[in-house]
Amino acid sequence: MKFLVACEESQAVTIELRKLGHEAYSCDLEPCSGGHPEWHLQQDVIPLLNEYWDGIIAFPPCTYLAVSGASWLKDQPKRGKGLVGAERRETQKLGAKFFMLFINSKCKKVGVENPIGVMSTWYRKPDQIIHPYMFGDPFSKPTCIWVKGFPKLIIPPKELWASRGEFLVSKNGKRGAKWNWGLPPSADRARIRSKTFPGIAKAIAEQWSKD
Ligand SMILES: C[S@@+](CC[C@H](N)C(=O)[O-])C[C@H]1O[C@@H](n2cnc3c(N)ncnc32)[C@H](O)[C@@H]1O
Repeated sequence: MKFLVACEESQAVTIELRKLGHEAYSCDLEPCSGGHPEWHLQQDVIPLLNEYWDGIIAFPPCTYLAVSGASWLKDQPKRGKGLVGAERRETQKLGAKFFMLFINSKCKKVGVENPIGVMSTWYRKPDQIIHPYMFGDPFSKPTCIWVKGFPKLIIPPKELWASRGEFLVSKNGKRGAKWNWGLPPSADRARIRSKTFPGIAKAIAEQWSKD
């Protein structure tokens, strides 16, 4: 089958699909870090949505869609590098439009991944919320999946789940996964946090490439 894995620089899903013998291409504005430039389309994904694909799997940017950034939507003086207030709200709308391009593409089978965020109300509730630990990687990260034409992912039985990983508690009592909160600030932090975990990548490839 011919797959487009959109907004994927890690090539995690693309590589798993290739292992299964499929013609899969990752696409990202960034160069790939998965070691297979021959399967990577480094370009804007939008024109590719008009081509024929048996399946599209998309990981659109969540920077302005995730609930974790919601407090920055309020009008407030600018601090640091990120967008705030009206500027952020406008960028959020563009992010939502980009997300919907995948859902509304002519491809019959589409799967979109994003953290918990505004799309759960602006579009609809996700079909499922999964975590990496359910698929064997010892990390917690609520991950929303919306499907059109693909089945929901089959979640392995609890006995096979990995540990949930370590958590940190902030001064105001908020709890967050250590792998995520504990990452030191760096230019690459967002990219590291957004890479698809191997267990989820394998499950997506295996379960969504069955004809
Ligand atoms: C949340 S990250 C997803 C990373 C993915 N889970 C992975 O393992 O590589 C979103 C990605 O979308 C890419 N992106 C943003 N706009 C794009 C566009 N118009 N066309 C292609 N890629 C885009 C970004 O460069 C970024 O790598």
